[in-house]
Amino acid sequence: MRMPRLPRIRSSEITTEAVYRDRRRLLAALAASPLLGGLSACAGAEPPPPPRTTTSAADAKAGFSTGEEQTRYEDVTGYNNFYEFGTGKADPSRAAKTLRTSPWSVVVDGECAKPGTLGLEDLLRGLAPQERIYRLRCVEGWSMVIPWQGVPLADVLRRFQPGSKAKYVAFTTLADPRQMPGIRYRSIDWPYREGLRIDEAMHPLTLLATGLYGKPLPQQNGAPLRLVVPWKYGFKSIKSIVAIRFTERMPETAWHALQPSEYGFFSNVNPAVDHPRWSQKTERRIAGSSRLFAERIPTLPFNGYADQVASMYAGMDLRKWY
Ligand code: MTE
Repeated sequence: MRMPRLPRIRSSEITTEAVYRDRRRLLAALAASPLLGGLSACAGAEPPPPPRTTTSAADAKAGFSTGEEQTRYEDVTGYNNFYEFGTGKADPSRAAKTLRTSPWSVVVDGECAKPGTLGLEDLLRGLAPQERIYRLRCVEGWSMVIPWQGVPLADVLRRFQPGSKAKYVAFTTLADPRQMPGIRYRSIDWPYREGLRIDEAMHPLTLLATGLYGKPLPQQNGAPLRLVVPWKYGFKSIKSIVAIRFTERMPETAWHALQPSEYGFFSNVNPAVDHPRWSQKTERRIAGSSRLFAERIPTLPFNGYADQVASMYAGMDLRKWY
């Protein structure tokens, strides 16, 4: 994703320490004030609780596939965002071969009755992989159509018996500088972290992917285990997961920590809410044979999955909770 460009600062523009300290004090006081608690999504305020809704089986199924032209395997596996292996789109496919994906285990803990560390086979035991053809819309403005194989995240999470305090689920990617050359650069405060509200995590569309195009996930796409949340911007779909935690409070996420005004917790695809530095109204669909000249098409609310997911956000101000 495009990093904020640092402006040149003249020495006359540099804030004196005293002014800086005063400002910090004022900000701290504002954040602590109960009256101003709802001021911003980034001030530590919690969103309203989700409405109790369920997606009908027919609605859910309608979201499992699309007849749209699929992105070529070479593009799905050659044009990637995986900053642990570099910030260029071709870096992950070149560098990620060093990621050892077996043996692999995942720690699951927090607000649940049965926490534990499970090897990948045990984590997925008895769950048959399903195929889902999803649109993936990156916050940068490009999108793909990808046939994934994986299991519903809900089926895996239920094994750990989340309790009533489990309001969110936090995910963490491996951060090993020996296997991941990008970790040497502080482009992100590693490890990469993401999170979902519990109802989003349990939603039938949310997939824990283990493969694509009928083959095991390549390292650059997040082997051996990644999230796919098709109605949210692509950065929510965290790769190479090593930890899952049930939490009571909204967990911090890697992109929000870096630029809170640009990357919210929810990050639902929304053409009506622009990124502060670019429009989100259209997207460049990378599908078929031409990537460079791919056509721009209108971006749809919730990436076209509104029938399946919009009810989870009923009554919520989507400009505030972006
Ligand atoms: N997960 C980790 N651990 N590190 C990353 O840099 N990039 C995200 C997401 N998951 C990222 C990540 C972003 S910005 C996008 S758009 C998708 O992965 C891209 O997935 P793809 O390369 O399989 O298309």
